Amino acid sequence: MTTTAHDPGAPSAENPGRADIRARTLRRDRWWLAPLVNALGLATFVVYATIRSFWGSAYYVPEYHYLSPFYSPCFSASCVPGSSHFGTFLPEFPAWLPLALLSLPFLLGFRVTCYYYRKSYYRAFWASPPACAVAEPHGKYTGETRFPLILQNAHRYFFYMAFLISLINTYDMVVAFQSDAPDGSGRFGIGLGNVILLVNVIGLWLYTLSCHSCRHITGGRLKHFSKHPVRYRIWTGVSALNTRHMLFAWITIGTLILTDLYIMLVASGTISDLRIVN
Ligand code: FES
Repeated sequence: MTTTAHDPGAPSAENPGRADIRARTLRRDRWWLAPLVNALGLATFVVYATIRSFWGSAYYVPEYHYLSPFYSPCFSASCVPGSSHFGTFLPEFPAWLPLALLSLPFLLGFRVTCYYYRKSYYRAFWASPPACAVAEPHGKYTGETRFPLILQNAHRYFFYMAFLISLINTYDMVVAFQSDAPDGSGRFGIGLGNVILLVNVIGLWLYTLSCHSCRHITGGRLKHFSKHPVRYRIWTGVSALNTRHMLFAWITIGTLILTDLYIMLVASGTISDLRIVN
């Protein structure tokens, strides 16, 4: 009787859809570095944003109208006077409730369901898979077809809300160019805080407009681009931004932390705003 040697790369009987490679990976490079760096970066942002969102103070500089993006828009009667650019139609909040209660869930949902961040945290935290050509530890794979991951499909709805919130952040940034004069009137002014707010808003728009859902909304489902020249042009621009979506995702993590941190330091009196034009 003759026996046939099993090809080590061929699918096995137990796992017909997969190559039968017993080693976890054949890679020899430092494939674990990217997921590790991603895990540290994302964890830093989540911890910082959570602490600051519940902090409840040092988020607004009345003199220069600097408002932290973690507190915008501020609709509660508990908001510091002047920080509510769109009114206070919500009652006073208990101290443990974030003042940006209406916007934070949408911003969180927008980032959590982002196509890039999904890749990032699936690899960094769930090791599913940890890297290309590295086997995941899970026995089976159901993708995003079941609860809770099926909720990732709601990304485009979070995009609509994030777009609206980016408009609000832009308004906050513009308002901050008017500072208070000694006699109580308003006057034009520029400080380092304005520069930081401006950079943050530019970053937020680049991140928001480079979103994969934005690309689909602007140019998806068109059979003939030639019949929709305006949408085609917008789609072309969004597509160009989309190639750098990962970069914008990380830049905005940095600018959000920097903006809030700077405003916190100025609002708490720890540092003074560096004035460029008074
Ligand atoms: Fe990243 Fe939409 S925000 S894909």
